[in-house]
Amino acid sequence: MFKHLLNLLLLTTICTFTAAAAPKQTIKIETNKTSLILKVADNGRLYQSYLGKRLTFDSDINHLPDGIEAYLTHGMEDYFEPALHIQHPDNNHSTELIYKDHKVTTNADGAKVTTITLYDPQYPVTVVMNYVAYAQNDVIVANTEIINNHKKPVVLHKYASSLLSFNRSRYFLTEYSGDWANEANMSQTELNFGKKVLDTKLGSRANMFLSEFFQVSFDTPATETHGEVLVGTLAWTGNFRYTFEVDQNKKLRVISGINPYFSQYTLQSGKSFVTPDFIFTLSNNGLGDASRNLHSWARDYRLNNGKGDRMTLLNNWEATYFDFDEQKLPQLMDDAVKLGVDLFLLDDGWFGNKYPRNGDTQGLGDWQETESKLPNKVSYLCDQAAKKGIKFGIWIEPEMVNPKSELYEKHKDWVITLPNRKEYYFRNQLVLDLSNPKVQDFVFGVVDHLLTEYPQIAFFKWDCNSPITNIYSNYLNDKQSHLYVDYVRGLYNVLNRIKAKYPNVPMMLCSGGGGRGDYEALKYFTEFWPSDNTDPLERIYIQYGMSMVFPSKTHCAHVTTWNRNASIKFKVDVASMGKLGFDIKLTDMSQSDLTFCQQAVKNYNRLKTVILDGDMYRLVSPYSGNHASTMFVSPDKQKAVLFAFDMNPRYNEHLLPVVMQGLDENKQYTVKEINRYNQDDHTVGTFSGQYLMTVGINAFSHNHLSSRVYEINIAK
Ligand code: GLA
Repeated sequence: MFKHLLNLLLLTTICTFTAAAAPKQTIKIETNKTSLILKVADNGRLYQSYLGKRLTFDSDINHLPDGIEAYLTHGMEDYFEPALHIQHPDNNHSTELIYKDHKVTTNADGAKVTTITLYDPQYPVTVVMNYVAYAQNDVIVANTEIINNHKKPVVLHKYASSLLSFNRSRYFLTEYSGDWANEANMSQTELNFGKKVLDTKLGSRANMFLSEFFQVSFDTPATETHGEVLVGTLAWTGNFRYTFEVDQNKKLRVISGINPYFSQYTLQSGKSFVTPDFIFTLSNNGLGDASRNLHSWARDYRLNNGKGDRMTLLNNWEATYFDFDEQKLPQLMDDAVKLGVDLFLLDDGWFGNKYPRNGDTQGLGDWQETESKLPNKVSYLCDQAAKKGIKFGIWIEPEMVNPKSELYEKHKDWVITLPNRKEYYFRNQLVLDLSNPKVQDFVFGVVDHLLTEYPQIAFFKWDCNSPITNIYSNYLNDKQSHLYVDYVRGLYNVLNRIKAKYPNVPMMLCSGGGGRGDYEALKYFTEFWPSDNTDPLERIYIQYGMSMVFPSKTHCAHVTTWNRNASIKFKVDVASMGKLGFDIKLTDMSQSDLTFCQQAVKNYNRLKTVILDGDMYRLVSPYSGNHASTMFVSPDKQKAVLFAFDMNPRYNEHLLPVVMQGLDENKQYTVKEINRYNQDDHTVGTFSGQYLMTVGINAFSHNHLSSRVYEINIAK
């Protein structure tokens, strides 16, 4: 009882420190392995004194230099990129930030929240910097709030979420870029004097060319198991910008936030602007450790239903495209039943009557079932699925409109489109103006009507195929530069309403493949579609890239007909590293392929808690040669699953064993090969964890596009 009271007291205690009480403040933000130390200097301003491996002796902290200002402002002495630029009502564009106080509280997740308040001595603006430290996961979440206490509006020209600085010998930046069907290609560059900017101006389909995360390794390029590395990601489903600037002293500054491009934001008197979260982890043990930090943090605290189960599914998109009706779909449901998956997902093409959605040129926005295809509506499909013992899910793209639609004809004022100019289209469509509350109601209504009419709907695939084009809002009038920001805020309003009313409906985030994927969207979505490219060879690279920041639980991975040279086994094995699904007709498969898939789905169901909730180890990178291998280990180290792929081996090349990670050195493990193409499982042997992590097993072969899966269990 006493202990309980004490805990309660600790949890609710708010410690407040003020400049008056202790003029030279030191603020420690700590996780189990990292310290971020901020200091108030004699001039009253806040500096980032240290960010690195955790310092355990408080006495050392006094020796640290002040460092670079923690939230650099425009107009003051520092000559480099500012994090904040405010235009005050008298047109003074400078801001000076002086430390006022800080407090430390504990949030509902049990994480320590440090809130630091800064003020300008000449102008009534307040800046509040928040740092939430997840000690166990070694993850820090930072954001900033800017408050306008002027009697008049101010204009925010720059308003970063965070500025971090480092003093190391060399900096190596890794980015993940690409295009549609070619997402998340890894490339690395050394940072030297000057700036490197990673940003997007695409608005809605923000990540089409660039994933929303980066890695910076210090002194030397980090490997999976060695080196100091910062991994960061912004939680914002819109335009973002990371600026990496090396100054004249070889110090690196990393500024992360909303892209200020065409986003000057007028902040009314008394109002505040809260920036998105910048989430980062710092590891001294390489990229693998950093990824596992973010994966476990996401599952524990961030992802919608992060700890819950995920459903396997059959999607009809690649099986039928737009060509289906009420007869065909139940046949595909039968395929789903035969495969043994949990859910049938109906994709694009089920709606529109004046302009039936028989292709991607029309109908988007008219969310009523096409009578000629579905005379008995979605309810018939729900009933069919229920009869067959599977769940039913449905595709929507509610933020978008085809100009050839009734919605466009009735509500052109709801569409983002430029007056006095010819419209130009991306995939024949335009984006609805989510800054407008009426449009938010409409978009919410798409989901709400479907779930009200058909409460059996158990899953949504939410697509977003166009970037924001023709940028102009009818609603915003003279505040056009608010559109990129208010669009995203409008989207969050809608998603919040959906989550509040339907908290248990899982949703897949899709954006013409991997055009969206960030940790704010993933508060609402249970998973995302990393790419329309489902060629398993390509997927090895794409899923590898996404795994740097997002856990396998979020990667929807489907078996399709892409890459006819790859066997069904290779396809299923690749897809089994994520959230397994199928997008294929059984008529495209032989009987023995089907038999294999049925067994593989059973294996997946047995092992999915390890794959989706275990610790991921990228053992062999596809970028390093002709093979790739990834392993998942249950947190208690009792069970593991290892995937090994031969992509393009050379003739008679020297094959190395796959050396495992994450097991208990002192325990014995039985290694069994499963998912063998219509052959019985094969027990490889029993080995100590030490052997498996030192010598490894021969999991690679000389055969092109071949693969092996091993189930590893602690020996009884
Ligand atoms: C996007 C998605 C696909 C599919 C189509 C439907 O391209 O990425 O998976 O849903 O739209 O039009």
